[in-house]
Amino acid sequence: MWPENVGIKAIELYFPAQYVDQVDLEKYDGASAGKYTIGLGQSKMGFCNDREDINSLCLTVTHRLLDRNNIKPSEIGHLEVGTETIIDKSKSVKSVLMQLFEPHGATDIEGVDTTNACYGGTAAVFNAISWVESSSWDGRLALVVAADNAVYATGSARPTGGAGAIAMIIGPNAPLVFDRGLRASYMKHAYDFYKPDLRSEYPVVDGKLSIQCYLSALDNCYKKYCEKVGKSSSTASTSKNVTLKYFDAVIFHSPYCKLVQKSFARLALIDFLRGKNSPENSPETQELEKFKNLKLEDTYFDRDVEKAFMKTSNEDFKDKTEPSLFIANLVGNMYTPSVYSGLVSLLINKPIEQLLGKRIGVFSYGSGLASSMYSLTVGNDKTAEEQLRKICSNLEYIKVQLDARKLITPEEYTEILAMREKNCHTVPYEATASIDPMFPGTYYLVKIDQMHRRSYQRLPLIQ
Ligand SMILES: CC(C)(COP(=O)(O)OP(=O)(O)OC[C@H]1O[C@@H](n2cnc3c(N)ncnc32)[C@H](O)[C@@H]1OP(=O)(O)O)[C@@H](O)C(=O)NCCC(=O)NCCS
Repeated sequence: MWPENVGIKAIELYFPAQYVDQVDLEKYDGASAGKYTIGLGQSKMGFCNDREDINSLCLTVTHRLLDRNNIKPSEIGHLEVGTETIIDKSKSVKSVLMQLFEPHGATDIEGVDTTNACYGGTAAVFNAISWVESSSWDGRLALVVAADNAVYATGSARPTGGAGAIAMIIGPNAPLVFDRGLRASYMKHAYDFYKPDLRSEYPVVDGKLSIQCYLSALDNCYKKYCEKVGKSSSTASTSKNVTLKYFDAVIFHSPYCKLVQKSFARLALIDFLRGKNSPENSPETQELEKFKNLKLEDTYFDRDVEKAFMKTSNEDFKDKTEPSLFIANLVGNMYTPSVYSGLVSLLINKPIEQLLGKRIGVFSYGSGLASSMYSLTVGNDKTAEEQLRKICSNLEYIKVQLDARKLITPEEYTEILAMREKNCHTVPYEATASIDPMFPGTYYLVKIDQMHRRSYQRLPLIQ
């Protein structure tokens, strides 16, 4: 017998305490006004100075999750990190996190790191579910951490960076339940974004190809997901004809918010091409008639199609997806945590009454490429409601901390990135950025010794 209602029982999100404003960055980069803010749909971008790296991001979010949810280290039986930010190569970030568990005698914890661009967090989530549903499960909880420092070389990709970390407790009897048997994946070889230069933090990126890869992965996952729901015996009575209507909310991996709006419109386009759009003969539907013989794969950069479906799906987008872009718009692409920051945004922006019993579609994409679509159902009984209220009240700090961040000028930001670039492999190294603006309870890098061993300290909870 599988344990029941396996899902997310607790969530913690962390983002750095400084950001650069996208309007300032447009001016500084000499881009036309509106390119980053309207064209990409981004307002602010969080980033790390030399006090933070992948280890510190993960230490911060994991420590905070355990503390704020009163979870003892001995209650965790599986811990896995999804990240594409690599520092010690053969040594996992998970092994670094063991410093939070060893002092409590908790070392019997499975799991290491999982990597494939922005998809690593979802792969770690799937592995955690597998562990909880396996013969190796011993009744303890699984912990998934997804974190990245997303930085690009100067140029057109730079405004699509970000940084952050998320930690989630996965176990049975959860209020946010993974729908069983309803995962659709699309995996393929592509050189759209990858990190072949191990001396650098920056990826090699083919921007246009990455957009095409993202959209084709979405097409394939959505069609396959709908097919699986159609075939699923438990849901066949409610839905043979699965369309966007099947979801109360849809969250996406967000490289930049505009791509998510286009992606939502694309799901409406797919429904239309499958002949599953609303039958009413409105002027709006008549306008779309001219597109009915299109081949999906010919439409990736078809502006007319994009515009038409963004218009018809706009109301639905505002209701089902826009609330999930709140953090992505203010922090940027955090890579692996991005899609889960969408879930957090939804939870902090929708009243609980509008979440109970609802179905959330999730699309996760990582370049290279790996992608999946799955769904979560929010519980609807008294226990689920209590648990959900606790999760949401625990997340109240997010809006406060987003507002409390320090604004950094593009000049300083560029200098900080240049310094990271220069010192990427410098040893010994002593971090120099001020720790004053950092949030309470944040881990920070102190130094890296001659043997590349990093040491960290944690800011007190009350400053
Ligand atoms: C996404 C990326 C390719 C965009 O860079 P770019 O080619 O310089 O940007 P574009 O010229 O296409 O401009 C971006 C958007 O802003 C719009 N824009 C440009 N100037 C504008 C202005 N002044 N006001 C409003 N919109 C403007 C463009 O029309 C375009 O929108 P559209 O695609 O809807 O037409 C680049 O940031 C990148 O490589 N990012 C990293 C990879 C990534 O995130 N990939 C996504 C899938 S994983």
